[in-house]
Amino acid sequence: NQIPGFCGGVGYGEYSECRSSSSSSKLLIKGGIVVNAHHQELADVYVEDGIIVSVQPNIKVGDDVTVLDATGKYVMPGGIDPHTHLAMEFMGTETIDDFFSGQAAALAGGTTMHIDFIIPVNGSLSAGFEAYKKKAKNSCMDYGFHMAITRWDEVVARDMEIMVKEKGINSFKFFLAYKGSLMINDELLLQAFKKCKSLGALAMVHAENGDGVAEGQKRMIELGITGPEGHALSRPPVLEGEATSRAIRLAGFVNTPLYIVHVMSSDAMEEIAKAQKLGQKVIGEPVVSGLVLDDSRLWHPDFTTAAKYVMSPPIRKLGHDKALQAALSTGVLQLVGTDHCTFNSTQKALGIDDFRKIPNGVNGIEERMHLVWDLMVESGRISVTDYVRITSTECARMFNIYPKKGAILPGSDADIIILNPNSSVEMSARSHHSRTDTNVYEGMRVKGKVEVTIAGGRVVWENDELKVVPGSGRYIEMAPFSYLFSGIDKADATYLSSLNAPVQRFSNEA
Ligand code: URP
Ligand code: ZN
Ligand code: ZN
Ligand code: ZN
Repeated sequence: NQIPGFCGGVGYGEYSECRSSSSSSKLLIKGGIVVNAHHQELADVYVEDGIIVSVQPNIKVGDDVTVLDATGKYVMPGGIDPHTHLAMEFMGTETIDDFFSGQAAALAGGTTMHIDFIIPVNGSLSAGFEAYKKKAKNSCMDYGFHMAITRWDEVVARDMEIMVKEKGINSFKFFLAYKGSLMINDELLLQAFKKCKSLGALAMVHAENGDGVAEGQKRMIELGITGPEGHALSRPPVLEGEATSRAIRLAGFVNTPLYIVHVMSSDAMEEIAKAQKLGQKVIGEPVVSGLVLDDSRLWHPDFTTAAKYVMSPPIRKLGHDKALQAALSTGVLQLVGTDHCTFNSTQKALGIDDFRKIPNGVNGIEERMHLVWDLMVESGRISVTDYVRITSTECARMFNIYPKKGAILPGSDADIIILNPNSSVEMSARSHHSRTDTNVYEGMRVKGKVEVTIAGGRVVWENDELKVVPGSGRYIEMAPFSYLFSGIDKADATYLSSLNAPVQRFSNEA
């Protein structure tokens, strides 16, 4: 099934050599179970020039079309990872995966788009945007950007507007942790929430109490606890619960939708559930590490092994994982990210004598689709349609790129995976495509395997081989005012009239 124009049998090790692009751009995926978030059916999928043209049974085509047999397999929208950090400068170093290696890894695992976080350069959003455009130049799959806000003044406020109106960004992330670097205070958070609301941009929060974390770290150091376990002990769930609650209440006060990134504890999840019950628009994003791992690994006697699990908020005690899985299956949490942010063993060793210096982050961009399939679908927790919703469609809807992304429908981008439910995969640093030398899922074998990944109408992963083209990935602009904003103005009007009501009554009596 070699597509003309692609490099024959070029595996991962050579992929950067592969620069030609496909001339045959017609594909037929035959006989599979086509799954969308709302529906599944037995059908063929016909693709031309990177776009899905037709989805129906028994499509007939000529010999110029590459045919992929999907009998007995699921044909689904490629994964969209809402939360990654590629080529990110952080904690005195830079992530080992850049846009090319991170995306190649993603494609090998069935993810065809990701949304990365731009970190401003010296607080400047425009400089940050330009820097990330350069970083993403060699992209081999489609990507979008969120933007972090790390300080506040008139220039930042104006730049937020430019980002939304001219640069295709519709979400901003605020860090309530990382005191002294990325952390912001409540005054800034309120100003920024107001600005997000007026622009129709989604506010996202890293919810941990940064002052509390600094205090917890001091406590551990005073107790002589300097190893990776000190990371978990210094920032317990209570600090995540507090910051989650605070962010939710302030977003409710402003009446703007809120997205909580990397929900790691039941404490945070319960705050989200409580607000949702009261009718507030709060989105909760668990990440794969929080769903499948527990913190015991941070006590591993080997530093390299323990340090690879250091991320923030920390991976929690056994039990939080189960609570997050349940919340994901009932819809309290709506989509799954990875927070893919890889540092190799040498980089992690920056904190060999002091856990506060271990660069925070774990891998996952390549493993997410497989782990979520096994954990949620294979276990019977959710349906295959729900799998598509939490790995792809909901992300596309929330960030306003549906149905271009997140669907197998005529007119949608041909970002497609073929998953064989009867095959299995093993996670390992030996076989993964990320540049990092460790894997937090080392040795896990899961049922269900992405056998084919199609990105922009090109077969980029087949027969365990990657055929990726640097520069073929496109920047996907995302428009403001997603469905999460509908009704906000009406709710505001109701609120304003409620303020007038008592005054009205009083003047009637007078
Ligand atoms: O440990 C983490 N999560 N590293 C990436 C930065 C962030 O907070 O998302
Ligand atoms: Zn080649
Ligand atoms: Zn974060
Ligand atoms: Zn992150």
